Amino acid sequence: MEILATPEAARDACDAARARGLRVGLVPTMGALHRGHATLIDEARRRAGFVVVSVFVNPTQFGPGEDLARYPRTLPEDVALARAQGADAVFAPAPAAMYPPGDETRVRPGATAAALCGEHRPGHFEGVATVVTKLFAIAGPCVATFGRKDYQQLRVVTQMVRDLFLPVEVVGVATVREEDGLALSSRNRYLGEPERTRALAIAGGLGRAVRAHAAGERHAGALRAMVLAPVGSAFDAIDYVTVADADSLLPFADVDSVGDRAVLAVAARIGGTRLIDNVVLGEDPAPR
Ligand code: PAJ
Repeated sequence: MEILATPEAARDACDAARARGLRVGLVPTMGALHRGHATLIDEARRRAGFVVVSVFVNPTQFGPGEDLARYPRTLPEDVALARAQGADAVFAPAPAAMYPPGDETRVRPGATAAALCGEHRPGHFEGVATVVTKLFAIAGPCVATFGRKDYQQLRVVTQMVRDLFLPVEVVGVATVREEDGLALSSRNRYLGEPERTRALAIAGGLGRAVRAHAAGERHAGALRAMVLAPVGSAFDAIDYVTVADADSLLPFADVDSVGDRAVLAVAARIGGTRLIDNVVLGEDPAPR
């Protein structure tokens, strides 16, 4: 497996793969890889002959006071996981390689990025869209895999690809969870055992809402409350618990009927750790 440190080296490796007739698959990550990332690599593997995993803690998607400095950086372990998963290359550039002096262009997403995390992390999706565009331009992938764990991110990237006519197929991959329902996340490393137990309130609430929706509950406020109540008592602060249209991400009001398919998304904090999770009602299984 190749380890590539510069955009030039990554582009050369992808060009060489294409010259051998291979489709390039890209798996963008920030590292601290876990089984969730592994399933993205598996999916890319199925769809492409040359799979590149990027590992880059992207500074432009972190706001002031967020966890950029303490975000886990575990490149040797990430390389081992990518290799074991059958990736062909890891692209792990330095920040100055992705944002050299004089860099100034940003990709600004629209309404899809406005609600949910967009309200609480100004500039976050602009940073995501910008770095993903750079990665697409460097690797030129036919296909790129993204987790439904970050549902809004997947929607923003899908919309961007459509709007900018980018020649890449974006594939969403189901959220990988622990046995007890906790969604795998690099940020779970911040949690001690008691905090991890508290964090299960999210999966518990989402599970209740999935079952209620399957049993015919369509009232947005009632479905929200099934998550709001347990998360409100287990977490220190809630950024949002929102039911939204699964495509536009426009939030439903509590009095609305959500229909047969809608996303129920949550972001909440335990101490300094911010966790997000979601289910698509009418589509995803109950997390717990
Ligand atoms: P990161 O948080 O490392 O996630 C990389 C990819 O793994 C994302 O597509 C994310 O949705 C997916 N992922 C994370 N946890 C998952 C889980 N439990 N199950 C399935 N997939 C999961 O998301 C980012 O990095 C960055 O914003 C990035 C897209 C790399 C841009 O910097």
